[in-house]
Amino acid sequence: MYIKKIELKNYRNYEDLSLEFDQKVNLIVGHNAQGKTNLIEAVYLSSIGRSFRTAHDSDLIRFGNDFATVKVHAQKEYTDTKVEIILKRNAGKSIRKDGSVIHRTSQLLENIIVVVFSPDDLKIVKEEPEKRRKFIDRELAQIKPAYYNSLSNYKKTLQQRNAYLKEEVVDPSMISLWDEQLIRYGSEVMRMRKQFIDQINIYSGRIHDHITNGKEKLRIDYDPNIPYEDSTEKQQDQFREILDKSYNVDLKMRTTTKGPHKDDMQFFVNDINARAFGSQGQQRTCALSLKLAELDFIKEETGENGILLLDDVMSELDEERRTYLVGTLQDNQLFITTTDIDDEIRANYPEAKILSIEDGKVI
Ligand SMILES: Nc1ncnc2c1ncn2[C@@H]1O[C@H](COP(=O)(O)OP(=O)(O)OP(=O)(O)O)[C@@H](O)[C@H]1O
Ligand SMILES: [Mg+2]
Repeated sequence: MYIKKIELKNYRNYEDLSLEFDQKVNLIVGHNAQGKTNLIEAVYLSSIGRSFRTAHDSDLIRFGNDFATVKVHAQKEYTDTKVEIILKRNAGKSIRKDGSVIHRTSQLLENIIVVVFSPDDLKIVKEEPEKRRKFIDRELAQIKPAYYNSLSNYKKTLQQRNAYLKEEVVDPSMISLWDEQLIRYGSEVMRMRKQFIDQINIYSGRIHDHITNGKEKLRIDYDPNIPYEDSTEKQQDQFREILDKSYNVDLKMRTTTKGPHKDDMQFFVNDINARAFGSQGQQRTCALSLKLAELDFIKEETGENGILLLDDVMSELDEERRTYLVGTLQDNQLFITTTDIDDEIRANYPEAKILSIEDGKVI
């Protein structure tokens, strides 16, 4: 899978841009604040309908304008696909896929599969659990619409239950209605997370082995907030029991204290917890292995090679890691942003298309 062409109107600092990409490597070069990240953000938008930098779609519209459009033309193994997104400052966004209007973001998922890797992602091991949950949710939702649906239902129910817990008078029978929904969707979310992490663990372990020449063994474990059960029935009973037990605490705290919205995952290097004891370099290597494992997961699940957006990460990795990246990503379309092209990058990507960006224009 690769992106052939992008057209932007009033997107961030791009007034009007039409650009064709190389099927393999695209080097996006420019000084700070010229629009490099903006460009790959637009590519990302075409894959999941949202930015990876902001939750506010109106931020994406060029200052002083009322609307923005992003059109992306991608080639998949057997078909091609076009995505068009129109963002209106006061009227939300509309998305078309191959000419038809899409009513739910979930209909866009699985279409163009993009993985973004930025310096923030290098910190995933030591950051707070929310960041790791977001990673799981984003990656899984992109590939499995069933996950997207279970997760949104779980989140909706959780919000309603939490809002109800804040009311003056709480009727326990109302709470048990929410509980049944939470249990149903929460168990689905947990099952898919467990499967995902088990798979990612295998792929990232293999990658980590290569990067460290077998010196470090990486293991990634699912760390669920309530104990995981293989059988759905047992999982649901387990969750119900925990919700019952924590009812009084929930009432006092006026929020749902237990459930998969508190899940986490743990990284171990040679059986030692990397979050607590790993060096910064080790933690970064774990993050790199995790990101690359995502591409293997995409390939396994969809048969397609995901598109990789590397935003400013090259300068954050040492030469050994960079060389590994170059060697391993032969089949994926790459977008690499950098402030300057040095001899090493030239040697690594001799055939790359170079896109020099200045003030929202390709020069
Ligand atoms: N909605 C918007 N309308 C117009 N300009 C915007 C908008 N949002 C951001 N910008 C501008 O885009 C520029 C930042 O672009 P971007 O983040 O792509 O930079 P960059 O080239 O990746 O820089 P760096 O190398 O520092 O990461 C800033 O000058 C910012 O003011
Ligand atoms: Mg940038």
